[in-house]
Amino acid sequence: MYPKFSLDGSGLGWQIVDKIGTLTAMSIHQLSAVVAVARNGTIGRANTLPWKLRSDLQRFKQLTMGHTLVMGRKTYESIGRPLPGRQTIVLSRRQETRFDGVCVAASIEAAMAFVPRDSHAFVVGGAELYRLAMPMIKDWYVTLVLADIQGDAFLEPWDESEFHCVESAFVPADEFNEWPSTFRHLVRHQNNGHRST
Ligand SMILES: NC(=O)c1ccc[n+]([C@@H]2O[C@H](COP(=O)([O-])OP(=O)(O)OC[C@H]3O[C@@H](n4cnc5c(N)ncnc54)[C@H](OP(=O)(O)O)[C@@H]3O)[C@@H](O)[C@H]2O)c1
Repeated sequence: MYPKFSLDGSGLGWQIVDKIGTLTAMSIHQLSAVVAVARNGTIGRANTLPWKLRSDLQRFKQLTMGHTLVMGRKTYESIGRPLPGRQTIVLSRRQETRFDGVCVAASIEAAMAFVPRDSHAFVVGGAELYRLAMPMIKDWYVTLVLADIQGDAFLEPWDESEFHCVESAFVPADEFNEWPSTFRHLVRHQNNGHRST
């Protein structure tokens, strides 16, 4: 896998709780992330996905349908439209950013305030957004692409010792899946990184 990264789990999340209040605290508590990442950390190339993996797209749809997607402006532009059946929140620092059918937020705090009370929020990339949201993410749905892939967007490594794996399933390569992969669901330990029993 990729190198260890020291995660500051006490940072951004609690600042947001202080500034915005209980509703936002609930949203943060439920923040998940979905990512497909190669063994060498690549997640993208030329603002698109550098692989064809139908199984990963199907898993993404299954996980996120009916919920809220939080993504960076570049990832939204690479998709080019709101994904059906999901609320989309796009992060952009530019005041002029507007897209039909999506909410635009100027900060992660503003994005979290858009998440409806009964919706689950998924951070879905790209690299900047994962980096920004990393301290707040309670669980990661990872597709580990079992190959080293050239790219220009990378997932910042995190300290895997802060998470435990509750799902791991191997998906072989076939005519619809260019590479073999492993679906993983990693859940952050409770109690500041100590594994709960
Ligand atoms: N493999 C995967 O699972 C996966 C998933 C998603 C995306 N990707 C790939 O990732 C790549 C894109 O990633 P990226 O890092 O280049 O771009 P990105 O994270 O999608 O978007 C970056 C943009 O988000 C906005 N932003 C970032 N931080 C912000 C903040 N703190 N406050 C407000 N706005 C903020 C800025 O928009 P403005 O410039 O408008 O201010 C910034 O330019 C593509 O190759 C894509 O295909 C891969």
